Amino acid sequence: MCGIFAYTGDKKAAPILLEGLSLLEYRGYDSAGIYMPDFGVVKTPGAVAELTKRIGDTASDAQSGIAHLRWATHGEPNEVNAHPHADCNNTVFVIHNGIIENFRELRESLEKRGHKFVSETDTEAISHLIEEFLKKDNDFEEAVIGTLQLLRGTYGLLITSTKHPNTIITARMGSPVVIGLGEGENFIASDPTPILKHTKKMVFLSDGDVAIVTPTSHRVRTLTEREIARPSETIEWDVAEASRGGYEHFMMKEIMETPEVIENALRGRLIPGEGLAKLGGLESVKERLKSIDRLIIVGCGSAYYSGLVGEYLIEGFGGIPVEVELASEFRYRKPIISPNTAVLAVSQSGETLDTLEALREAKRQGALILGVVNAVGSTIARETEAGVYNHAGPEIGVASTKAMISQIVVLSLIALFLGRDRNLSEKTGVEFSDALRSLPELVSKVLTTTDAIKAVTEKYKNARDFLYIGRKFSFPVALEGALKLKEVSYVHAEGYGAGEMKHGPLAMIDEHFPTLAIVPNDSVYEKTISNIIEITTRKGPVIAIATEGDTEITKIANDVLYIPKTHEALTPILSIVVLQLFAYHFATEKGLNVDRPRNLAKSVTVE
Ligand code: F6R
Repeated sequence: MCGIFAYTGDKKAAPILLEGLSLLEYRGYDSAGIYMPDFGVVKTPGAVAELTKRIGDTASDAQSGIAHLRWATHGEPNEVNAHPHADCNNTVFVIHNGIIENFRELRESLEKRGHKFVSETDTEAISHLIEEFLKKDNDFEEAVIGTLQLLRGTYGLLITSTKHPNTIITARMGSPVVIGLGEGENFIASDPTPILKHTKKMVFLSDGDVAIVTPTSHRVRTLTEREIARPSETIEWDVAEASRGGYEHFMMKEIMETPEVIENALRGRLIPGEGLAKLGGLESVKERLKSIDRLIIVGCGSAYYSGLVGEYLIEGFGGIPVEVELASEFRYRKPIISPNTAVLAVSQSGETLDTLEALREAKRQGALILGVVNAVGSTIARETEAGVYNHAGPEIGVASTKAMISQIVVLSLIALFLGRDRNLSEKTGVEFSDALRSLPELVSKVLTTTDAIKAVTEKYKNARDFLYIGRKFSFPVALEGALKLKEVSYVHAEGYGAGEMKHGPLAMIDEHFPTLAIVPNDSVYEKTISNIIEITTRKGPVIAIATEGDTEITKIANDVLYIPKTHEALTPILSIVVLQLFAYHFATEKGLNVDRPRNLAKSVTVE
């Protein structure tokens, strides 16, 4: 949830750390803090701009330091609770992303031994524990190892001390840590974004790893082994990809990137003319996949809704029974899993803890574990046996847009991959793959309608509630459309199956309650039209998302937003883009910062 960044090298640390933090700002942002050896600790509520102001012109010559952006889990987001946290003597400084579950008992026993705590955080127990170990044996590394052995929970840690000013110890358990390897300088962060400008050579730590990093060296170890091999990887994203690219918000930039993102997801993965999908990431389990008789898709939020679209796609084309589960519920209902079950996690960040834990539960029960993940080197990507990367690039806006679309594209490829290995005919495969290949052009067309979408949002700007309805492929679209509006505009919206209206929600409808009806020209068109009429006869205003050329709909709906014609199974991709733009314009009209909706953060690494 939080962002961590550290530098140790031959340059001034302050500007590097502050710039790095600003690139990480999307990860967590209720407070920020920094420690540099000759400078001490500076902490502030708010974001990096506040911290920069506090540091002001008091330029520090320090050539190392640790920095943090906090998204509160224990204790109010104020200056005292902001990281870094120190020991009683102000000699050990700790920055932490994650949650220490046993911090209360640790704190109690440390307080009994005379330690004075100043914050309400779980993190502070770590610095005091290290102090306690240092009393027995003045070995910094061993004190950290001893401390880690007592912690229960998740952490991505940065630890330094006044006695070892250029050494930073980092450790990973459940929260991501990546080390950037430079020339005479090294970096540590919670993801590659703030490191990319300095080096593309990176080492991703695994759970249980601890690394001792100096300007010219890094050694990775575990709690028991003094040295283990963790090869470096070259990460090709550049920093420009992570900047706003001229748009006012990342959200708009990322929506506008959708055609390219679809190209990236499809690149090299379709065999034109044969209707086949070639998924290198699934090759290693291809034989095992043939015996799979049940697929469970797990995910949270928008990733869960992608999974719902995937259910229709994979059952329709892949010929395998599919269930979709909220990852946050999956392991609490004792799922029954056989060796012929595959569990597929869908996650942009690859760090969502509920999704990860659902996957681990499935693994314990012997399922084949697969992933559709965007963040290369993320925990879910590492813990799955096989999977397919989205290649959507970094998504900075908190609300998932381009990554969610690419999840549906990848699930379409998986449906084709599985289907052609089973009963899907070449003819159907060719038709579907041709439809997939035409998507970037169709989405580009949708993106040109952004002004028309904006004009409709202006008409409904005072509405306090919206209903989103759809059937079949458009049902998950309705759920996602409502989520997008809620999270960026804070206006109530509810997604519903269009056929369910008569079973309850119709009672809410009056002239003040608008409905967005997703009604493309598909196999359930007539039925959805009947549901729309149920609403209009009760004076409910209707905004329809319909297929170009549908003139009938203009006689029923108050407003119509069009998508181009495509394969029925791919209409969600086009209509979701319309609904993302709808949510964007509706919220920005209210002056809201859609990139950072209140109370939310990009990567949810707590349960
Ligand atoms: C909604 C949104 C969230 C995420 C969810 C899962 O716009 O972004 O609902 O989809 O938190 O995140 P990932 O995909 O990173 O597992």
